[in-house]
Amino acid sequence: MRELYNERYRPQFHFTAKQNWLNDPNGLMYYKGEYHLFFQHNPSGINWGNMTWGHAISKDMVHWNQIENAIYPDKLGTIFSGSGVVDWNNTTGFQTGYEKPLICIYTSAGGTSDESKGQPFTQSIAYSNDKGRTWTKYEKNPVLGHIIGSNRDPKVIWHEPTEKWIMALYLDGNDYALFSSPNLKEWTRLSDINLPNTSECPDIFELPVDGDPNNKKWVFWGANGNHYIGTFDGKIFKAESDLLRTDFGANFYAAQTWSDIPKSDGRRIQIAWMNGGKYPDMPFNQQMTFPVELTLRTTPYGIRLFRKPIKEIENIYQKEYFWQDQILPPKNDILSGIKGDLFNIYAEIELYKSSEVGFVIYGEKVQYNKESKQLSCLGRSALLEPIDNKISLQILVDRTSIEVFGNDGLVSLSSCFLPDLDNENLSIYSLDGEANIILLKVYELKSAWL
Ligand code: FRU
Repeated sequence: MRELYNERYRPQFHFTAKQNWLNDPNGLMYYKGEYHLFFQHNPSGINWGNMTWGHAISKDMVHWNQIENAIYPDKLGTIFSGSGVVDWNNTTGFQTGYEKPLICIYTSAGGTSDESKGQPFTQSIAYSNDKGRTWTKYEKNPVLGHIIGSNRDPKVIWHEPTEKWIMALYLDGNDYALFSSPNLKEWTRLSDINLPNTSECPDIFELPVDGDPNNKKWVFWGANGNHYIGTFDGKIFKAESDLLRTDFGANFYAAQTWSDIPKSDGRRIQIAWMNGGKYPDMPFNQQMTFPVELTLRTTPYGIRLFRKPIKEIENIYQKEYFWQDQILPPKNDILSGIKGDLFNIYAEIELYKSSEVGFVIYGEKVQYNKESKQLSCLGRSALLEPIDNKISLQILVDRTSIEVFGNDGLVSLSSCFLPDLDNENLSIYSLDGEANIILLKVYELKSAWL
């Protein structure tokens, strides 16, 4: 194992910067077998500052290789959050060779450095003609001037029906706006959207409902995970749902989805910054969530956005344990023999007479209370209705995080913690009566840095 990635509190299958600070995921795109993950990075400090786009590349979104930083501050500002796209039709005219140009669209955060004193926040682009290895800023930046406040975080998508680029941009307060462009260089304002109690880092994407290609809906998303499900006609997003959220954890922010995942794959994959967390004496600070696949599904409450860990987690499976039809509590704790610090746990539990079922992981509880219907972990809770008195749980455990997914990802809790590494025991329990484990799978995982 590489020494650098095996420190005591280094997440083993969650992305961290080799060194120093990281926040929002940026510029997520896929091109020719490679997933790109850019990230808000301070190249010279353990805390936030000097915003630069760090860059990592992966073939499976589990094993990452951090390469040179992609975009550095300049006289227009430090480099705040944004997105990335493959310009398949060379609408920018930036293509010089055989490879399609990759484009990053970011905020030039004027006034956040000495060099950019007096400049406002504007939107800029940079391009690469070598599969993302080197980046050149567009000489006529910015491509979108200052509108209001600290407007920022452009998320750009290709809208097929109108054959235009669409940008979702955070304006100010709880306001966002949509713009369109033929070439990523000239932008026209289309419409505005308000997301109550929400600011920063928009995302906008379309998904089939229940996998039906003839019934698609759009999602408009803000940094804290609040989102609407509705329609988008190329100009106006119309919400058809209440303001919704899926993740209720303590550390979940600025999620973004990958652009340009091939249609043959068809997935919409999201990664978020696990904001906060403690990493004592570590050379890095902050981590990303594990990537999840997003789907829209019909539930008794309406259409909901589900989050589920990507199947590529199988690439780090080491050992599998499997049980069926076990009464809880068992005579002996069935998990007592299992030790380790990296797990993917999957359970289907019939609540039966139990008042509370759960797991204890590093001394921390993941618990479900039958009466309150609350799924809880690390001080946060989400309402989860059992289905036929049953619930399903998936739990990802890494050295400094626990991510819990209830009922196939209808709700999730993404939270950081500081594990007691001398207490690596796992256990499963039921209170006040019996429950039935319909199915329980525990996968011991190996480090993705191996
Ligand atoms: C969200 C955010 C963005 C901004 C970036 C700066 O976490 O505040 O709005 O672009 O971080 O690092």
